[in-house]
Amino acid sequence: MSMTESVGAAPAPPAPSDAILQVEHVSKSFGPVLALRDVNLYLRRGEVLGLVGDNGAGKSTLCKIICGFHRPDSGTIRLEGKEIHLRSVQDARRHGIDTVYQDLALVPQLPIYSNLFLGREATLGGPLRLLARSRMRKVAEDYLQAIKVSVPSVNADVETLSGGQRQAVAVARATRSQVKVLLLDEPLAAMGARESALIIDLIKDLAAKGQSMIVVDHNYTHLFQLCDRLAILQEGVITFDRLVADTSLQELTEYMVNEYRRQVDTGRGERADGAGSH
Ligand SMILES: Nc1ncnc2c1ncn2[C@@H]1O[C@H](COP(=O)(O)OP(=O)(O)OP(=O)(O)O)[C@@H](O)[C@H]1O
Ligand SMILES: [Mg+2]
Repeated sequence: MSMTESVGAAPAPPAPSDAILQVEHVSKSFGPVLALRDVNLYLRRGEVLGLVGDNGAGKSTLCKIICGFHRPDSGTIRLEGKEIHLRSVQDARRHGIDTVYQDLALVPQLPIYSNLFLGREATLGGPLRLLARSRMRKVAEDYLQAIKVSVPSVNADVETLSGGQRQAVAVARATRSQVKVLLLDEPLAAMGARESALIIDLIKDLAAKGQSMIVVDHNYTHLFQLCDRLAILQEGVITFDRLVADTSLQELTEYMVNEYRRQVDTGRGERADGAGSH
């Protein structure tokens, strides 16, 4: 099937005029596993959208399509109304879409400061290259200090950091420059209480500055603190899409519990395709 709409598909539901990102009719399979089925989703400019769903529901797959890591089997991605065909994560970055993966995207063998500039290094040669490096170190130090992320030294290789510290550096990298769309796939996974609080503050600051974001998290309490709107992905389908102001923690929890019961009743509580692994 082509990357554009499949023949005869219904038009995607209209998105608001201030949508910065639109996902239209996106489907994606991995062999026999249909990870995403005809997903329609939009993100408004300056909005924080929370994406919820069980393990294996397709959240990371959706993020990886929006950030250029996976190609959709069918469907369209629009940025500021214009259809885009992302060839790689680098390509998405050039378009202003950046991401913090659930399965981290740092280079363990490089120092922290290099990781912070990954894909955006100053492209200078000769002696200027050394200068650029010391400038990157200084910028990295100042930035991490400003957002209260503590690491032993920006010269330390990322592989010497704890999981939580790595995640903090990954979030810091993606948030260093304001991008059009920021995707955070379980940014609090592997974080201790102190680091979680720090990252939540970081995300809130970004939101206050008008950063458009999609945040994946299993913790509804965090999402209610952070998000303007919540969408639920179930077995590759968006089944719930509501403003946080129009729902409640209780409603969301009850919805998910009822859905789980329904799946158990229809014998689909355990998926035969092995969904549930990351
Ligand atoms: N690269 C891949 N190859 C094969 N199958 C994959 C691949 N990536 C994801 N899947 C499958 O696609 C489905 C959706 O996975 P995905 O990682 O998107 O789920 P998720 O909602 O992010 O789950 P979790 O909450 O556990 O992170 C699962 O059945 C998963 O096993
Ligand atoms: Mg995931």
